[in-house]
Amino acid sequence: MSALKHFLLIPVLSICFWTTPAVSVDLSAGGQKAASCVGCHGAQGKSNNNQWPNLAAQQATYLANQLNAFKSGTRANAMMQAMATNLSDDDINNLAAYFTGLPAVSSGGDAALASAGAAKSAMCLGCHGAKAQGNGQFPRLAGQQPEYLLAQLKGFKEGSRKNGMMQAIVANLSEQDMQQLAAYFGGL
Ligand code: HEC
Ligand code: HEC
Repeated sequence: MSALKHFLLIPVLSICFWTTPAVSVDLSAGGQKAASCVGCHGAQGKSNNNQWPNLAAQQATYLANQLNAFKSGTRANAMMQAMATNLSDDDINNLAAYFTGLPAVSSGGDAALASAGAAKSAMCLGCHGAKAQGNGQFPRLAGQQPEYLLAQLKGFKEGSRKNGMMQAIVANLSEQDMQQLAAYFGGL
C-alpha cells in the first residue's frame, strides 16, 4: 500500500472507531448477571413495585448511561448505587443488551389522567420517539410505571436528578401536567 493510502486510511478508520465503538456484548452473561436485578425489576423486566422502573425493552445506550451514572454517583439512589458499584464495563454492556432485548410491557395508567396527558405529549416525542419507544440516550417512556415516571419528572424539577434537556422541559410543567403525562406514557 502506498504511503498516500496509509495517510488517508488512518484518519478514516479512526473516525469509524470513534463513531461506532467496538463493544463486545455477551447476552448470556448479561442474563446471568440479571439474576441480581430481578428481585426488584421483575423476572421479565417488569418491576414488582410501581416506584421501581421496568427495564424491559429500554434503550441499551440509556441503560448503560444510567448504570454508569449510579456507579459514579452523578445519579443519586442508594439502592442502585449499591448495585452498580460492583459492575464492570462489560457487566454494564451485557446487562443493557439483555434488558433491551426483553419484550416491551405496559404498566397502565389512570384513564382520565391519561387522556389529558395525550393532548400534552407531542412536545415529548421529538426526543423520546414517535411512539415514546426511545432512541439511544433518550429513554423509552412507553409502558413505564406512572409512579416512577412522575417521581423522575419531579426529581428533574427539584434538581435532585440532573439533565439539562429534561430540566428545561419540566420547568414549564405543573404538577398536574406531570401526573397526566406520566399516566399517558405508562398506559402505552
Ligand atoms: C433493591 C432493589 C433494586 C435492585 C436489586 C436493582 N435495582 Fe435498579 N433500580 C431500583 C430503583 C428503586 C430504581 C429507581 C431509582 C430512582 O428512583 O432514581 C432503579 C433504577 C434502575 C435503572 C434506571 C432505569 C431508568 O429508567 O432510568 C437501571 C438501568 C437499573 N435500575 C438497573 C438495574 C440492574 C441492571 C440491576 C441488577 C444489576 C438492578 N437495577 C438492581 C431498584 C433496584
Ligand atoms: C430535548 C429532548 C427531550 C425532550 C423534548 C424531552 N425529553 Fe425526557 N429525557 C431526555 C433525555 C436526554 C433523558 C435522559 C436523561 C438522563 O440521561 O438522565 C430524558 C429522560 C426522561 C425521563 C426519565 C425516564 C426514566 O426512565 O428515568 C422522563 C420521565 C422523561 N424524560 C419525560 C419526558 C416528558 C414527559 C417529556 C415531554 C413533556 C420529555 N421527557 C421531553 C430528553 C428529552
